Amino acid sequence: MLIAGNWKMNGLASSLAEVKALRQSLEATPAACDVLICPPTTLISRLAPETGPKIAVGAQDCAPKSSGAFTGDIAAEMLADAGASWVIVGHSERRQYHGETDSLIAEKTKAGWRAGLKVIVCVGELEAERVSGKAEDVVGKQLSFLADGATAANMVIAYEPVWAIGTGRIPTMEDIAAMHGFIRKTLAAKFPGEGDNMLIQYGGSVKPDNAAEIFKVKDVGGALVGGASLKAKDFLAIIRAV
Ligand code: PGA
Repeated sequence: MLIAGNWKMNGLASSLAEVKALRQSLEATPAACDVLICPPTTLISRLAPETGPKIAVGAQDCAPKSSGAFTGDIAAEMLADAGASWVIVGHSERRQYHGETDSLIAEKTKAGWRAGLKVIVCVGELEAERVSGKAEDVVGKQLSFLADGATAANMVIAYEPVWAIGTGRIPTMEDIAAMHGFIRKTLAAKFPGEGDNMLIQYGGSVKPDNAAEIFKVKDVGGALVGGASLKAKDFLAIIRAV
């Protein structure tokens, strides 16, 4: 399993103390899963030397191009240079607030691979889409855009129902199982020999008190954690739930 923390637009130099606390605990008692922290870009190069071998560092987005006149954008190569080994692409907040399309997300995925990064691709339906019974159609369409060349080693899918992000609400375990099963079937058909082994994380209001139940669900390969990744104590409790 992979437990990944997405700090979103949170974190200053003072937040490094949380990472130190996490590192100490994981060095004393190793995690039963891989652990990743995706801080804001400004902290990647400061956090990378603090994490030690037990915690990987990733970015929350990357530009598709490797360099050039793209004011404000950050290339995947720059993230790798700063110490990142992962990048998240297609988070619903990027889709919603920055108008990111499935084809742009595929370009960003390839950019991450070009720079040697592993990529977490986020998918998930809106609440209205779930209510109207279209959740699988929506996620299936998002998955149909996944870039060629994906392997179990270079890509992880994060299933994050948009309505569960930051709301404290989560789907039923049956609904998580059904969607993860659907994603598994789709990946296995699209990437023969690889799709069966790709990790499929669940994301959206994962907390210390619901993590253990979620991790028991078939095909759940860890979690992408927002709010609860900001404090070492909560993030650690989720890691220990594995
Ligand atoms: P949340 O965010 O854990 O705060 O709901 C999850 C995410 O957006 O990845």
